[in-house]
Amino acid sequence: MLKEGAARIAPEYRESAMPMYQELIADDVKPAQSIFQEYSETDIGIARVPRSRYTDKAFFDLEVEHMWSKVWQMACREEQIPEVGDCTLYEGPAGSLILVRTAEDEIRAHYNACLHRGMRLCSGDTSVASFKCPYHGFTWNLDGTIQKIPSRWDFRHVQKAELTLPQAKVERWNGFVFVNYDQDAAPLKQYMGRMDGDFQDWMRKDGYAAIHLRKVFKANWKACMEAFVEGFHVPETHAQGIAWAGDSSFQYDVWPDEPHVSRFLEPLGTPSDRMDPIPSEDQRLQDMYRMITGKDEDAPVPPGTRLRPYIAEVARNLMSEAEGADYSGLSDTEALDGMQYSLFPNLVLFRNLLHPYAYRFTPVPGHHDWTMYDFIIFKKKPESGEIPETQYIDLEEDDLYADSGAFPEWLGEIYDQDCHALGALQKGLNAGGREYVIFSQYQEVRCRHLHQTVNSYLEKGGVDTSAL
Ligand code: FES
Ligand SMILES: [Fe+2]
Repeated sequence: MLKEGAARIAPEYRESAMPMYQELIADDVKPAQSIFQEYSETDIGIARVPRSRYTDKAFFDLEVEHMWSKVWQMACREEQIPEVGDCTLYEGPAGSLILVRTAEDEIRAHYNACLHRGMRLCSGDTSVASFKCPYHGFTWNLDGTIQKIPSRWDFRHVQKAELTLPQAKVERWNGFVFVNYDQDAAPLKQYMGRMDGDFQDWMRKDGYAAIHLRKVFKANWKACMEAFVEGFHVPETHAQGIAWAGDSSFQYDVWPDEPHVSRFLEPLGTPSDRMDPIPSEDQRLQDMYRMITGKDEDAPVPPGTRLRPYIAEVARNLMSEAEGADYSGLSDTEALDGMQYSLFPNLVLFRNLLHPYAYRFTPVPGHHDWTMYDFIIFKKKPESGEIPETQYIDLEEDDLYADSGAFPEWLGEIYDQDCHALGALQKGLNAGGREYVIFSQYQEVRCRHLHQTVNSYLEKGGVDTSAL
């Protein structure tokens, strides 16, 4: 229970025997930074949305026209294209873009289409001195200006200026390369709102994408985002997490003036209130110790040792050693808990130590109800400055995260459960019946927020969203 007069740290209507995140961190030995001591509860009116938002191509087309073509979206990592001439593709819903490094400190995003008769110019990661169209050989400089027009005499009616490749806007942030198809878009930092400040001390600022897993989830991109921004599904979908994933103690923050950012703060090592009986703290400490260290032995501590500060210290030591870094100064909550931010529309980024992860959920071209799930695992850059190449792991439909070798099997199983659940969810959405889905007030507030922001873009485009 909250003391009278105390600042709000939970919804007034909450009924749970478990402490909330703020109550847990209040007793931490290494105290949380102020950004994690903040609580923001915002009423998002959207309680129900039509399931056609997930199933109908027509709705997806509205999103592409009014939203995907206007928002900042993460296109790649800088280390994917380290040298001048290195290219990678961003197959965004509003068009395929070639991300190319044009100078040591410049990256451009060209539409991936020949200006002669429209051929795709680039088919994947490559390194080039110029872009030569494979159809008739029109050739462009890296900066997008035309270099060569075959049979120039036959194109007397075309000016060179007409043949400069159109580009999307590009901005960079903490090693990520963002694009925006809208030439009038506000700067990225303005778009990101508080997220930029909240990541000032991010311990992955000097990290690189060590592993990049890719898998298609057979569900609409919003369903995928929603599945990863709430912990409400943990006790059913990931029953193995009921003792430690803290689902009923999560803090979910959305801010009234932040259309693009939301977060949850997940106190790990905390049991769900759906667990009965709840194991003792000694037992939970031992379970967490085994899980985090991968050791099949008890933690060398006496009964009565407090879980949070102890496991936080184990995590700091473990990760410092694994990465050759010094994480000894991290707060207990940064070392132990999950702090997950999302940047509208489709980027998810963790701010804590144990999840050096970024997720991106992008509609698969030609499939409005399939999503490419990009999963990046960061490591600290080596002292030498030589960044190892990213290891790509492409998982086919039947390939399991648990077998990917990218992380411990128990963790992979969680992603396999999510993948399976999302395929089944989309099938359910497609099955018909009642015309809408329902969101909870608090635990699914980030899902509401996602739809609110989709609506705001559609409305700016003149679409009446009241029936959509
Ligand atoms: S379509 Fe590209 S050169 Fe003709
Ligand atoms: Fe999940």
